[in-house]
Amino acid sequence: MEQTLTSQVAREVQRRRTFAIISHPDAGKTTLTEKLLLYAGAVRLAGSVRTRKGQRHATSDWMEMEQERGISITSAVMQFDYRDYHINLLDTPGHQDFSEDTYRVLTAVDNAVMVIDSANGVESQTRKLFEVCQRRRTPVFTLINKVDRPGKEPLELLGEIEDVLGIATVPMNWPVRSMLGAVVGIYDLQQRQVHLFERAEHGSQRAPVQVTDLHDPVLAELLEPQALAQLRDEVELLEAAGDALDRDRVQSGELTPVYFASALLNFGVQLFLDSFLDLAVGPVARKAQQGLVRPEHPHFSGFVFKLQANMDRRHRDRLAFVRVCSGRFERDMVVNHVRTGKKLRLTRSLKLFAQERESVDEAYPGDIVGLINPGMLAIGDTLCSSERVEFDEIPRFPPEHFATLSLPETDQRKALAKGLDQLCEEGLVQVFYPVGDVMRQPILAAVGPLQFDVLTDRLENEYNVQARVERLPYEHARWLEGTAAAIAAMRCPPGCARVLDPEERPVLLLPDDWSVRYTTEKNPEVTLHRMPPKAND
Ligand code: G4P
Repeated sequence: MEQTLTSQVAREVQRRRTFAIISHPDAGKTTLTEKLLLYAGAVRLAGSVRTRKGQRHATSDWMEMEQERGISITSAVMQFDYRDYHINLLDTPGHQDFSEDTYRVLTAVDNAVMVIDSANGVESQTRKLFEVCQRRRTPVFTLINKVDRPGKEPLELLGEIEDVLGIATVPMNWPVRSMLGAVVGIYDLQQRQVHLFERAEHGSQRAPVQVTDLHDPVLAELLEPQALAQLRDEVELLEAAGDALDRDRVQSGELTPVYFASALLNFGVQLFLDSFLDLAVGPVARKAQQGLVRPEHPHFSGFVFKLQANMDRRHRDRLAFVRVCSGRFERDMVVNHVRTGKKLRLTRSLKLFAQERESVDEAYPGDIVGLINPGMLAIGDTLCSSERVEFDEIPRFPPEHFATLSLPETDQRKALAKGLDQLCEEGLVQVFYPVGDVMRQPILAAVGPLQFDVLTDRLENEYNVQARVERLPYEHARWLEGTAAAIAAMRCPPGCARVLDPEERPVLLLPDDWSVRYTTEKNPEVTLHRMPPKAND
């Protein structure tokens, strides 16, 4: 019996590909997502899922897609089949500033696709997200988008990726362009084939393509002699001098394959999808305190990487996103909730996100399952079906922005407390309470300032609370470790505030770097930690 399960899990593991798209806003992440769904056959017309930026997709759009294809789609996780692959595409929230939420999503994927705008090159947000991927040794596949528009030269872009990001590149294809820069096709450097595209209306359908070689006379009709000569020269140069495609180096995050495309016009999208899936890693073994957990292991294990309240307004419950790491997930299974040592029956597992609530009956490593969370599950929690496994904690980042909330209506306090509770549980912001403040007026802390905007937006939309954020002049939080007497006797510069975190641990908020240095020097009997000591040390 176990033998059959093991081989079934191994088979499913082989076909799983789980990834996220990282990019600077406006590089084309949304457009590419749609086109990947189009080429994978998950939607018939791209564009049907598009809404205004930053808004959740209208349910009617999703419903249409659900009905068309019977696939499960959410703005957070998309799941679809293509060729023999079973693909999980996780959305990364598109905030301008770095957010912990994005970081957590990246802990749940095995591969990342980095979209770069060919005119802008490597931008700040891309760099930060790339660094997160590098720290985890996640393979990164680069897609240089918008090649239909004037942009930087392809060779310059490769150089920029190598210099700015410090990763070796291997071009997988090359844009075929006229002297005026109009792109007519993509040259596949691996297969040595030219793919000539025609524009389909609004790019909502697949672009008709004709596949040929570099010496086909049709190229001479499409391109000026100079453009054709330049293309041939470049290809020759790349073949002679370029880094070879080394699958192991790609899969260990040392080498990034680079693809040129126009997501808008659908040029190069299928070439990218096919090649990416073949080179991407399947579910990788995960580090746990007990050693590496291999995905083929027959016993189920997984971890919670995201919590979200009110995803579905009609149900208003909280959902925990669980990444399956090993074995087979089955609805109704009883698992260990490792942090509390309790048993948990997973009865309410949802597909993410069918229009009508639909249960997930089984899932395999690489898949994401939604569990209705009665409040017991927290970010980073491990669930496992047999022997004890405890996955490494998802690191948190020290907050650098602080604020209070003011309420015009005092009768909203109760609703505010509930909203704050749930949104803090999701990890949207952290809260501290000033020492000795009987009103317990919370101080909010965030890694990036935009988190406050998201907070007030969500408080208003989901909890009907109109709160205003008032920024506070602190830049650092330090958890204090020492005897109560030593902490009480601390010498702090002006402008600091003593607060408690929700677990009643003492924390000091400080206005600048100088105050941190001063406080550290003057109080040798107290240790200052950037993160709660337990999580950090
Ligand atoms: P994002 O999710 O990364 O923020 O980017 P998104 O896909 O929303 O694309 C940002 C803008 O870039 C959009 O234009 C989109 O149409 C355009 N775009 C995406 N891919 C390509 C491409 O390959 N070529 C060209 N020329 N443009 C591309 P917009 O005007 O902001 O929005 P919309 O009016 O098109 O919806």
